[in-house]
Amino acid sequence: MKRIRLATIGYGFRGAGLLAMARSIPAFEPVAVCDDNTDIRAKAEKDFPGIAFFDDPDAMLASGDVDAVLIETPPMTHARLAIAALEKNIHVLSDVPAIHAIEEARPLWEAAAASKAVYMFGATGNYFGFVQTCADLKAKGLLGEPFYLEADYVHDVREFAKTTPWRIGYEPIRYCTHSLGPLLGWLGKELSFVACFGTGSHVARDNPAGHDAMAAIFHAATGEVVKLLVSFTNSRAFGQHRYVCHGTQGVFECVWPLTGEKPKVTFSTREVYGFEKTIEIAVASDRPEFPTLENVAGHGSLDYAMLRDFAAAIEGEPCRLGLKEGLRMTLPGLFALQSAQHDGQLTEIRYPWS
Ligand SMILES: NC(=O)c1ccc[n+]([C@@H]2O[C@H](COP(=O)([O-])OP(=O)(O)OC[C@H]3O[C@@H](n4cnc5c(N)ncnc54)[C@H](O)[C@@H]3O)[C@@H](O)[C@H]2O)c1
Repeated sequence: MKRIRLATIGYGFRGAGLLAMARSIPAFEPVAVCDDNTDIRAKAEKDFPGIAFFDDPDAMLASGDVDAVLIETPPMTHARLAIAALEKNIHVLSDVPAIHAIEEARPLWEAAAASKAVYMFGATGNYFGFVQTCADLKAKGLLGEPFYLEADYVHDVREFAKTTPWRIGYEPIRYCTHSLGPLLGWLGKELSFVACFGTGSHVARDNPAGHDAMAAIFHAATGEVVKLLVSFTNSRAFGQHRYVCHGTQGVFECVWPLTGEKPKVTFSTREVYGFEKTIEIAVASDRPEFPTLENVAGHGSLDYAMLRDFAAAIEGEPCRLGLKEGLRMTLPGLFALQSAQHDGQLTEIRYPWS
């Protein structure tokens, strides 16, 4: 079997973790690391002796020695690097979000359409075990049709930002794919309009132009409503994800403190017992089919499952998270930011295919 020569652009928290994880997938052969930080490259050389090292992504992509690339640099660079790889027919697994600015959507869409290579969107959040649980409840007819969904991602990242400076001043609503990925999967529809507000800076007061939290309300063309709260500066002791899906026949809720505990999932329906009853459902936060890989690379078996799907897509399987899914999860946050910059003006979300 010819192995896929895999490289990463960016060897920080995510790039290092994912390339290490790729070692456990026989289809991949890690061959190169690109990072423009000398100290980070020195660390990579210790971790992967004998592979190639670059400080310039374009030089690595032009080397002819790479079949597939992980894009693990700050969000501001994702679109440019993905386009550069796709133009050379190099397969891309891009970390979240897919793009940083609305104007990047069309050129990336066109580059992916013109390329022979696979673009996969690295939406780790879509691999959480509970995401499938809610999808299964819907498929079995217990949830009914979703009509109102919400997600909170509240995580004080100020300490983390000291080592990942791109997070300083980063408007939180841009980082909406961990929240929208699961919700859009359950909803099965695209979001059309948004109104969004930011709180301004209250907690640290060190960035008067920034927002501690941003809240957006989205509308789908068929009437469903989605509400998001994203906060990266707050006084919570630990981060938390929360997801709610109101269906016509049941309500699914997942509360996940980012403390290493399992998510707490409840499902409430009249369908099972004929009256209002909340049923506690226990589900694994990781993928139960890969239990031995728990906590490898920070996201454990979620990352394993994602890399395995990337290899399968390169080998010809349908790609379950392509660019369309990536832009459906990313663009609503960027149009939400535009709305917030115009005092919460109702703003149409436009996609390159619409
Ligand atoms: N999927 C998830 O759960 C998840 C979690 C955290 C971060 N992320 C995403 O992963 C990406 C990386 O995040 P991180 O926490 O690893 O950040 P990081 O700052 O630790 O790593 C980024 C690395 O990219 C390098 N870099 C920056 N610009 C470069 C360039 N032009 N060429 C080469 N190298 C360059 C930096 O030197 C750094 O080593 C971000 O886009 C973030 O949004 C995703």
